[in-house]
Amino acid sequence: MSNENAKCLVEVQDLQEHFPIKTGFFKKTMLKAVDGVSFKINPGETLGLVGESGCGKTTVGRTLLRLYKPTGGKVFFDGTEVTDRNMQTYRKEMQMVFQDPYSSLDPRMTVEDIIGEPLDVHKLYSGKGERRDKILELMSLVGLNAEHATRYVHEFSGGQRQRIGIARALAVNPRFIVCDEPVSALDVSIQAQVINMFEELQEKLGVAYLFIAHDLLVVHHISDRIAVMYLGRIVETADADELNENPMHPYTLSLLSAVPIPDPVTARAQKRIILEGDVPSPLNMPSGCAFRTRCRYATEQCARECPKLTDRGNGHMVACWNH
Ligand SMILES: Nc1ncnc2c1ncn2[C@@H]1O[C@H](COP(=O)(O)OP(=O)(O)OP(=O)(O)O)[C@@H](O)[C@H]1O
Ligand SMILES: [Mg+2]
Repeated sequence: MSNENAKCLVEVQDLQEHFPIKTGFFKKTMLKAVDGVSFKINPGETLGLVGESGCGKTTVGRTLLRLYKPTGGKVFFDGTEVTDRNMQTYRKEMQMVFQDPYSSLDPRMTVEDIIGEPLDVHKLYSGKGERRDKILELMSLVGLNAEHATRYVHEFSGGQRQRIGIARALAVNPRFIVCDEPVSALDVSIQAQVINMFEELQEKLGVAYLFIAHDLLVVHHISDRIAVMYLGRIVETADADELNENPMHPYTLSLLSAVPIPDPVTARAQKRIILEGDVPSPLNMPSGCAFRTRCRYATEQCARECPKLTDRGNGHMVACWNH
């Protein structure tokens, strides 16, 4: 099956990932980690995906790349539906950079072998010399020196490890990378460096990103568009600046009000919205809108029906009954 929107590189339609969880001796309950997520990403574009811990961001990335088999929904790559296809061909096109550079790289391998492994798997060189040249080129692309090639991961800092992870993802020359909180585990002082590197690589290589983070500030900086997730669903999506200047969903408002503002005068004038209550358990979701239990504008309708994402102009989509 092909998709009419030929321009977009990656599209997911109504993606669902439900995990069976044992909740009793004989009882299983479905945990709806992702429950009807749709979005499109154009070539060379960055879609930011934000939301609190446990809302399903990583699961979206993994299901999209078919590291998990989707419970439902469709995934398109470059106009072709890939949901039920053998992913071998698409592994080269779509890659992932993981959150924790300390556990995602094999400590027994040298940098050269970590970056060379995908080259080996996909047979992307004709001789040893070419393999080595490609590895050195990738290392220089992410700002690592040639003498790092024979060293082991434990000899590197978090930021350098993340650069190794990125070089490994880039080895197969992908058109799309899922970046799963790639800077969250790093020291604040080097987060900006690594984010800038992601941007420079995008300019050079034209690669598209799904950039996952829980910090709206990080995501706003790097994204063309942003999608905000709450308990398995997208509640708002818009261009990055539009979302920042004109947030509409009460959950997005609370996320933005939690972002620290460097100027004390503006910071004092800004009212922080403190969210009441805890995040509901995804095993026991509230009826209707999942956010209603923490929303101060919630009405009866919110308990009855789950609002759909609707366009409020210029592609600014919001799922809320009250805005
Ligand atoms: N393999 C799995 N089996 C069962 N439940 C899972 C599995 N992976 C994730 N979950 C559950 O699905 C929900 C979403 O998890 P996910 O890791 O996608 O969230 P996240 O938004 O990436 O969180 P974080 O910001 O902490 O990384 C959570 O409730 C989690 O416990
Ligand atoms: Mg995660």
